[in-house]
Amino acid sequence: MLSWDDTPVSKASNTASTTTQPASTPTPAAEAPAQGGTATAVKERPAAKAAPAKHVAPDKRAGATGLEEVEFGAKRINVDEKAIINCRADLNQLVPFKYNWAWEKYLTGCANHWMPQEINMTADIALWRDPKGLSEEERRIIKRNLGFFSTADSLVANNIVLAVYRHITNPECRQYLLRQAFEEAVHTHAYQYVIESLGLDEAEVFNMYREVPSIHEKAAFELQFTEELADPNFHTGTPATDQRLLRNLIGFYVIMEGLFFYVGFVQMLSLGRRNKMVGAAEQFQYILRDESQHCNFGIDVINTIRQENPHLWTPEFQQEIKDLIMQGVELEHQYAVDTMPRGVLGLNSDMFAEYLRYVANRRANQIGLGDLYERASNPFPWMSEMLDLNKERNFFETRVIEYQVGGALKWD
Ligand SMILES: [Fe+2]
Ligand SMILES: [Fe+2]
Repeated sequence: MLSWDDTPVSKASNTASTTTQPASTPTPAAEAPAQGGTATAVKERPAAKAAPAKHVAPDKRAGATGLEEVEFGAKRINVDEKAIINCRADLNQLVPFKYNWAWEKYLTGCANHWMPQEINMTADIALWRDPKGLSEEERRIIKRNLGFFSTADSLVANNIVLAVYRHITNPECRQYLLRQAFEEAVHTHAYQYVIESLGLDEAEVFNMYREVPSIHEKAAFELQFTEELADPNFHTGTPATDQRLLRNLIGFYVIMEGLFFYVGFVQMLSLGRRNKMVGAAEQFQYILRDESQHCNFGIDVINTIRQENPHLWTPEFQQEIKDLIMQGVELEHQYAVDTMPRGVLGLNSDMFAEYLRYVANRRANQIGLGDLYERASNPFPWMSEMLDLNKERNFFETRVIEYQVGGALKWD
């Protein structure tokens, strides 16, 4: 059976070779061999019939996009030319690596691959269907969290693909962003899988971000960051626009993935610790592992931008960011109150007020802002253990699928 790209090699290469170089444009390589090439090879290049359209960056101060005309015979890139934003060096060459941390996180993401269908939902389905299986408070927590997360991960994926990706001018960071975008798709799949398994009203759950105020306000808060950067007229390259990019990254990696997810994580994992909804809790545990990597990657990106562009990190901008994080704490606390109007599972919203201040302090310190709140301690120390899945002895018992790694390809 032929796959989609089974075009005979000779035909495919002929087609490709006629579209890269205008015939009338002499290149340095026409007189001298390019590095790694030969003069003979240059002479044999077939003439193109028409010059391809040139892609010119709309603002020379902005970075490359990766869509620029491929300059034949251009000087090879030097690692020192790479920069995380506003870089003009070729973005289509992954190596030489400049930011090894980005590549390492990409490899870790691949090693942590999982799929929602691997997790057995049988016990959850029985418990959900049992009229006495769960209290009304527990059911509210489950439905609200599925409502928040099922659209939140789409907002995160959209922000990567439609807003952030084109402004990050580094191939190893882009490689991670592509992996992250796929992981966000897996997370949305996981919520859909739980919703379907439990037989919930899909329209009710997926519309919560438009119908439940505490969920809507978090979504609307995040969407403002995407809208700014997704504007086709937005370009980095000025202090003001570079700060807009940083603001977006902090809005998503620090506030959304580093703060807005944590009430839900604690609540869902608390259910699992009490042997309730163990399948859904396991899905959330895998998601927590991914999200903690996303958050760490984002913090590395933010700190690298700060390091390479210290002029952006003004006292005024730092105050703007502190205010945003504290606004995020308020919104997330409202969410805790709404999902948990009464104490349940040994949790209550006051504990979350403390926990969110603790998490916000940790995030603020990670990006060099210092503490935002005095005296914030962690009421859920077991959450740190949850981040290290290998310590959870029972965690992998339900895994039923071995991924094919390095196996022989089968064509039919
Ligand atoms: Fe996610
Ligand atoms: Fe994420």
